[in-house]
Amino acid sequence: MLEKPRVFVTRKVDEAAIALLETVAAVEVWLDYKAPSKVEMLSKAQDVDAILANTEDRIDEDVLAVSNGRLKVVANMAVGFDNLDVITATRLGIAMSNTPGVLTKTTAELGFALMMAVSRQIVTGDRDVRDGKWQHWHPSAYLGVDLAGSTLSVIGMGKIGFEFAKRAKAFEMRVLYHNRSPRKDIGEGFEYCEKLETALEQADFLCITTPLTKETHHFIGKAQLSLMKPAAILINIARGAVVDNIALFEALKEGRIAGAGLDVTEPEPIPADHPLLTLANVVITPHIGSASQRTRRDMAVLAAQNIKARLSGEPMPSCVNPEAMTRKTQREKGEEFASHALDAELDEEV
Ligand code: NAP
Ligand code: GLV
Repeated sequence: MLEKPRVFVTRKVDEAAIALLETVAAVEVWLDYKAPSKVEMLSKAQDVDAILANTEDRIDEDVLAVSNGRLKVVANMAVGFDNLDVITATRLGIAMSNTPGVLTKTTAELGFALMMAVSRQIVTGDRDVRDGKWQHWHPSAYLGVDLAGSTLSVIGMGKIGFEFAKRAKAFEMRVLYHNRSPRKDIGEGFEYCEKLETALEQADFLCITTPLTKETHHFIGKAQLSLMKPAAILINIARGAVVDNIALFEALKEGRIAGAGLDVTEPEPIPADHPLLTLANVVITPHIGSASQRTRRDMAVLAAQNIKARLSGEPMPSCVNPEAMTRKTQREKGEEFASHALDAELDEEV
């Protein structure tokens, strides 16, 4: 009897996803809260057909190659896939997928929560109340910035950026955006800035929602921050490395911008002695953009659907490297070679 395909799931995820995987495969789940180390990942990856990975897992050439051709698919439980070596995977005929769409609104909501928390000093206020520092109501205490009437610039008006922008419109903000190309499908009321600089100069609030790529690494650095208004507030819900965090610290400390709300940092987790943590005008959350119960279940299920489809030879719902499908995995090539060789031997015998 043929051995069932094997799947390694790098963290405990919703049971619905595991049940789906079990319809086609034998499933091993990493039960530690802590991510597998590189050595542990290599040891698990050497004998599997599929990996269900997370953003914290580096799926590099070593991990992709260790199974010697058995690995067919890596499904990332995230829409961002900067942790995956897609180029090597494509070369090896290994399909990779992400989880677009199912987390869009949840992530936009978290970004909005950060924008409101920073603009109205919610975290500072809460800390002061708990520490007994709030003694009097005063007309000039804890003054914030109104969203209504302010200008928001969205950098990366994709799925999440647009959900963020729609919420901003409902709060009566003017919305600008910068992408490499203007969007034709979003209706009126969102002003395209061809130049990043225009979006930076005009923003009272800046929300960053681009993927992390070679092009967007430190996209917002010293030069870009210097174009912003001193009263501006920066929100990053994309990836930490899209912003140069040291340049950000300096801009905040010197009052060149007024505040920041960060769901993502470089590195993650942010070390306890990182200078950004010394600033009161910064709110940092632990990369929880998609962290609602329903969304995390939907992400796990979509990742599982991608694996199931690949293992069953069906179209994957959200493959990021469809070119890999036209290539055979090393093992498939090996088996084909072996069967041709056997055919040739049999032909000779006849
Ligand atoms: P998406 O729909 O693909 O949107 C990305 C947007 O970025 C597109 O509009 C794209 O427009 C723009 N963009 C890409 N490269 C650019 C560049 N060099 N310059 C300017 N704009 C650029 O992706 P999404 O679903 O909204 O997700 C965006 C990112 O958010 C993910 O990649 C992920 O890293 C991050 N994320 C974080 C969390 C969290 O927990 N904090 C959760 C989910 C996602 P053009 O192609 O026209 O330039
Ligand atoms: C989370 O960070 C994601 O990219 O989905």
